[in-house]
Amino acid sequence: MFLYCQCGLQPKAIVYSFEKIPSMLNHVVAYAPEEPVHDVVIEEINREAFGPGRFTRAAYRIREGGPHDRSLSFVALNGEHVIASIRLTPILIGPTPAMLLGPLAVRPAWKNQGIGAALMRTSMEAARLAGHDLVILVGDEPYYAPFGFRQISGHQIEMPAPVDPARFLACELKPRALYDVAGKVRHAHSGGI
Ligand SMILES: CC(C)(COP(=O)(O)OP(=O)(O)OC[C@H]1O[C@@H](n2cnc3c(N)ncnc32)[C@H](O)[C@@H]1OP(=O)(O)O)[C@@H](O)C(=O)NCCC(=O)NCCS
Repeated sequence: MFLYCQCGLQPKAIVYSFEKIPSMLNHVVAYAPEEPVHDVVIEEINREAFGPGRFTRAAYRIREGGPHDRSLSFVALNGEHVIASIRLTPILIGPTPAMLLGPLAVRPAWKNQGIGAALMRTSMEAARLAGHDLVILVGDEPYYAPFGFRQISGHQIEMPAPVDPARFLACELKPRALYDVAGKVRHAHSGGI
């Protein structure tokens, strides 16, 4: 089989044997909306990434309150295998609707290939197109800052368990979406203020 590519100024024909094509396809990654059939392997990926301690985290406790939004949650696929996942969950902060991002996890063998970043861009763009104003998360600012996340400071926002303020981040999808936001963070379906 012949595949052509432009290498420098000289077009070159690259000759691949048929035997090599399957191994090339081993590295192809596709992105798709999450479906119920992915649930079991996503749980396995999250267990692998975060361990048993994940159940005690503040974000997990919010997510326990109801379902995530599958239309804004995505998987990375290699063939039929799920190799990474990102989820967004509808929340309320006091009376204000927002989204909680996470978990984001990539299988160890697939890290540092831009898959986490692609899932971030896909999910955030889907949230913006769906009309959401504000996304919060608990995570490492150095990783999330390039996607528009900053530390939440000067707001009376209360998580259901203690979080490190340096890891409590927000991204405003509309200007000043965080202005005046205050109150308890909980799942959007859990009621209460
Ligand atoms: C964090 C994670 C989702 C990143 O996914 P990924 O596909 O490997 O990352 P990308 O390829 O998009 O980006 C790689 C870059 O992010 C950096 N990076 C990865 N994890 C980071 C972290 N926790 N903090 C800061 N930077 C990080 C890498 O060093 C790399 O930097 P470089 O491009 O300068 O070399 C993945 O490593 C993972 O699943 N980790 C375990 C679960 C986890 O911690 N998730 C939440 C993150 S707070």
